[in-house]
Amino acid sequence: MAVLEHMTSQQAIDLENKYGAHNYHPLPVVLSRGEGVYVWDVEGKKYYDFLSAYSAVNQGHCHPKIVGAMVQQAQTLTLISRAFYNDMLGKYEKFATEYFGFDKLLPMNTGAEAVETALKLCRKWAYEVKGIQENEAEIIVCENNFHGRTTTIISFSNDPVARKNFGPFTKGFIKIEYDNLKALEEALENNKNVAGFLVEPIQGEAGVYVPSEGYLTAAKALCEKHGVLFIADEVQTGIARTGKLLAVNHEEVNPDILILGKALSGGAYPVSAVLANDHIMNVIKPGNHGSTFGGNPIAAAVAIAALEVVKEESLAENADRLGEIFRSELSEFASTNDLVTLVRGKGLLNAILINDTEDSSTAWDICMKLRDNGLLAKPTHGNIIRFAPPLVMNEEQLRDCIRIIKETITNF
Ligand SMILES: Cc1ncc(COP(=O)(O)O)c(C=O)c1O
Repeated sequence: MAVLEHMTSQQAIDLENKYGAHNYHPLPVVLSRGEGVYVWDVEGKKYYDFLSAYSAVNQGHCHPKIVGAMVQQAQTLTLISRAFYNDMLGKYEKFATEYFGFDKLLPMNTGAEAVETALKLCRKWAYEVKGIQENEAEIIVCENNFHGRTTTIISFSNDPVARKNFGPFTKGFIKIEYDNLKALEEALENNKNVAGFLVEPIQGEAGVYVPSEGYLTAAKALCEKHGVLFIADEVQTGIARTGKLLAVNHEEVNPDILILGKALSGGAYPVSAVLANDHIMNVIKPGNHGSTFGGNPIAAAVAIAALEVVKEESLAENADRLGEIFRSELSEFASTNDLVTLVRGKGLLNAILINDTEDSSTAWDICMKLRDNGLLAKPTHGNIIRFAPPLVMNEEQLRDCIRIIKETITNF
């Protein structure tokens, strides 16, 4: 089959199944075009995207400003590696550090790479600044975390599917319950070698778990008291998704290390970053860390444009306002419908809990019906469905989506 030959959904699925590793279980829909909040399948059917590539496409599909910056840079200079300087990286680093309020940025490509980078940075800081004895540093992480799928990251995951038969694992992590300050305090008091606390301000993959109000502030204070770095993984929650630029901004917490990815490029290109102030970032020296593609000129141009769009189009404010409508409408619906037990989230990162066992296929089956009715969403864990549309959605579109969701579940 020629690459450009038109194909049906089934042909595309068959190709992936035959020639691709089966490391995902996609909803059976084959998309070939996107614009703003909409995507189209190969047969031309239009859908609302209610996942946004796991919150990467916050700025909407194929945003003209982001695509424009990408195309222009792609026609000028794509990649030289960090063996030489390029004229875009410094501009981007200045722009992004001022935007987020840090001294320095370390550019990477994917979320997992940025998490790895933050872990390395935290450990090196622990040995060279805090004075922990080499190889003794510990990093506190939370139960049910999701930070990616590299070997080190799955070493502290408790998802059996992500871990089974991938050992041996990396040492140096202490796992505590999420949203439990007592557990954090005990872990800090009982271990003198703690270097950092890695946390998702809202646990996205786990099913959009929003911690209690004040948790992040109190956790940051505990970290400060014990001379431990507070590391916020905002790969999914960051860049306006939860109704503020960063989810930690809901509590006015300043992380020591900030991890970003996904919407840093508006989903146009793999761009991730770790931000920190000089007293932390300066432990990194030439050769300690890097990536051929990290900080390339296209990534730099795309990220500047993507971040500009967030402010120019007031995406955080929009997410905040539409999120309130979404939760209030669906909470009311949940109170009259037996199938939905709970609605939770912040901004436009929300989830509904389906009234069935975790191993049931009900949430998946509802997502199939939503697909048939023109809205694409996916279960996270068993009976939880995450709803995260692009933040460029307007109220009329959101209300149309709420209608589709309610009608689909009512008729299920
Ligand atoms: C909080 C968080 N951290 C890290 C990652 C990993 O990002 P990536 O898939 O780009 O490696 C994800 C992906 O969903 C995430 O949600």
